[in-house]
Amino acid sequence: MLVSEREQLRANIERQVKEFGNDRSALIPVLQDVQHKYGHVSEYVMQVVADILHIHPVEVYGVASFYSFIGHKQKGRFIIRLCRTISCDMQGKDRVARQLENDLGIQFGETTPDGNFTLEWANCLGMCDQGPALLVNERIYTKVTPETVHDILEECRTLFGVYALQEKETLCELPTPVK
Ligand code: FES
Repeated sequence: MLVSEREQLRANIERQVKEFGNDRSALIPVLQDVQHKYGHVSEYVMQVVADILHIHPVEVYGVASFYSFIGHKQKGRFIIRLCRTISCDMQGKDRVARQLENDLGIQFGETTPDGNFTLEWANCLGMCDQGPALLVNERIYTKVTPETVHDILEECRTLFGVYALQEKETLCELPTPVK
């Protein structure tokens, strides 16, 4: 990371601390904000957050490790999380998983070489009667089939084309769901 990028990142975290408060209570909101804007929380960020909040980096690491939605590794612009809990499992999540892996050419836990897609497992997303369910960034998709996987990925790719022209640093926000 370039020095200017680090300075910008630190300035951004300082702004968030001003908003959320200069103590431990700001820790989770600040980490969530970094996760949302940059797609992951690096070790450098954890050190900066610890420094600004005057707490030990181990404490920041402990909190960041506890929450599954806070990741330490750089993830794709689109993070696809497929529910693997029992209802979705019984409603065909394996077929959906295979389709995702085939279409993207990666396994769960991996990111495509172009940095666009990350595949992850999720536990129950609260849509058990409409499984299989998956989350793309913050948008939920239900009753997903291998056929709708193709539509969902196409929607992401189309959107990426738009955002790629704007050098957008945050995760992509998806428009209306695929019918
Ligand atoms: S089991 Fe998949 S959403 Fe609940």
